[in-house]
Amino acid sequence: MRVNSSSDRASECVPSRATGMEGGIVIKDDWPGYSLELFTYPEHYREDIESVYIPHGVIMDRTERLARHIMDDIGDHDMVVLCVLKGGYKFCSDLVEFIKVQCRNSNKHLETRVEFIRLKSYLNDQSTEDLHIIGSQDLSVLRGKAIVDTGKTMKALLKHVEAFEPKMVKVAGLLVKRVSNVVGSLPDYVGFEIPNRFVVGYALDYNEYFRDLNHICVISEIGKVKYKI
Ligand code: HPA
Ligand code: MG
Repeated sequence: MRVNSSSDRASECVPSRATGMEGGIVIKDDWPGYSLELFTYPEHYREDIESVYIPHGVIMDRTERLARHIMDDIGDHDMVVLCVLKGGYKFCSDLVEFIKVQCRNSNKHLETRVEFIRLKSYLNDQSTEDLHIIGSQDLSVLRGKAIVDTGKTMKALLKHVEAFEPKMVKVAGLLVKRVSNVVGSLPDYVGFEIPNRFVVGYALDYNEYFRDLNHICVISEIGKVKYKI
């Protein structure tokens, strides 16, 4: 499968691992992103972003497709969606909306609950050793349910979640970064596979800034310095 011609140089779809499902839209190392002039974005970030890496519309279209995959796999199980804050809130919210629409359209009666957990492991643009789980740790509602986990820092959570004996646990990640020393498992549903670079927007932050940006963008050097703590 190929994506549309404007992204042709940047992306291609790869066949998947065991499931036969695709492993996400692959964004290659040399993809510079789209010029800022081609899109709208909050004016206060003009100097702080370099390019539009993944436009909001593409994120939405891809998320709609992931929702379909999830529906196909979940069958008639009730579902608890565990949203990993703060970075996962946009993806989670849009994913749940698409799941609801698809349920309505296929006349399925699937009870969907949403729980939230907060993880924090980044200082500026660097990953730190400490992973803090903040907020609701009582996940006993998950017992016997199917879970779709959304967010990025999943490995530590999985252990935590499995202790509550859900029937099925699935992980959805909008972005997976290509890193050479990969540890742990990949999400079951992947939106995009991107190079190992720091991106912001669509709820992904740099020291709490840029969450109000719809597109996923590359931060500029000016932006990194301006919002550094
Ligand atoms: N952007 C924002 N937050 C993150 C990232 C990123 O690229 N990677 C891990 N947390
Ligand atoms: Mg963050």
